[in-house]
Amino acid sequence: MTGARITGIGTSLPDRVVTNFDLEQTLDTSHDWIVERTGIHERHIGESTTQLGLEASQKALAMAGVDPVDLDLIVFATTTPDSLFPIGGCLVQDALGAHRSGAVDLNAACSGFMYALIAGYGYIGRGISKVLVVGAETLSRIVDWDDRSTAILFGDGAGAVVLEATTDANDSLLGWHTGSKGSAGSILRCTDMRGFIEMEGKEVFRQAVLAIEETVGITLERAGVGVDEVDAFVFHQANVRIIDAACKRIGADPARSIKVIQHTGNTSSASIPLTIDEGLRTGAIANGDTVLMAGFGAGMTYASALLRWGP
Ligand code: ACO
Repeated sequence: MTGARITGIGTSLPDRVVTNFDLEQTLDTSHDWIVERTGIHERHIGESTTQLGLEASQKALAMAGVDPVDLDLIVFATTTPDSLFPIGGCLVQDALGAHRSGAVDLNAACSGFMYALIAGYGYIGRGISKVLVVGAETLSRIVDWDDRSTAILFGDGAGAVVLEATTDANDSLLGWHTGSKGSAGSILRCTDMRGFIEMEGKEVFRQAVLAIEETVGITLERAGVGVDEVDAFVFHQANVRIIDAACKRIGADPARSIKVIQHTGNTSSASIPLTIDEGLRTGAIANGDTVLMAGFGAGMTYASALLRWGP
C-alpha cells in the first residue's frame, strides 16, 4: 500500500479587480445588496484559463520542490477551457515543460477540483507517484454581464496542488465521497460554449445546502470522524449564506469555515484551492489539522474529502 499527501499548493488571480461599485455603473444593483445576499465585495477578471492554471501550477510545483519533468499526470479541472481541444491539461503540460506527464481534463462544474483531487489520490500507487491537480476557470467568459442575477456572482482564478506518494502507507486522505443529481440539471445551465449561465438562484441555494449536508455526512462517517473533530472547513465559495447555512445544517462551528469569496466571487473549480491557500496564509490550517473540503455545482455534482494536512 502507498499513501499520498499534498506537498505544494499555488494559486493565481487576474490583476484586474471588479468591485461591486464598478458593477453599479452598468447594472441595476448595489454594493450593499450584493454583500448582504452573497458576501461578495469584489472579483478578479481577465487572463486565460491556461495562463491562470499555469501560474498556479508553477507555484505549487515550486513549493513542493518538484521539477515539472518528474510529473506523472496532470488532472485539470475546468468548466471553461480555452478550447475544447487541445485540452487545458495538455496546454499547461506543454507550457510547464512536463514532457513525461500524462494530462486529462475533468469537468464536474464547481465540484471539479474535488473530483480531480479524489481522482489524483486514486492514481497514486498504481505506477504513478506525482500528480498535479489543477482547478482553473474564466467564468467571466460565460457570464451575461447584463444579467444582474448572475453577473454579480462569478470571477476568474486558479489553484493547484501537487500530490506525491508517501514512502509508507500513511495516506492523508481520511475519507471521501462523490455524488450527483442529474435530475436537478435544469436549475443551473450553460448549454452552449458561446452561451451564458442560466440559473434558478433560490433552487440552487436550496440544493447546494442539501448536497453539502449529504456529502459531508458520508465522508465523516467513512472516516469515522465527528464534525467536532474537524479543524477547518473549506466549502465551495458560491455564497456566504450557503456556507453559513451548510455549517448550521451539519452542526459545524462557522468560525472554522474559511472564506475567500469576499475577494474572489465564485471561481468554480478554483474556489477550493484558493480557500485552502487563504487558510494556510492566515493560520486557520496548520500541519496536523483535519481539513474537510466540500464542493457542489451544476449537474448537479457534489463531492467532499477529509484530509490530514501536512507531513
Ligand atoms: N441587485 C439587486 N437586486 C437584485 C439582484 C441584484 N444583483 N438580483 C436580483 N435582485 C432582486 C430580484 O429581482 C428580486 O426582486 P423582487 O423581490 O422585486 O422580485 C429580489 O432581488 C430578490 O431576489 P432573489 O433571487 O429572491 O434573491 P436571493 O436572496 O435568492 O439571492 C442569489 C439571489 C444571490 C442569486 C441567491 O439565490 C444565490 O446565491 N443562489 C445560489 C447561486 C449559486 O450559488 N450559484 C452557483 C452555484 S454552483 C456553481 O458554483 C456553478
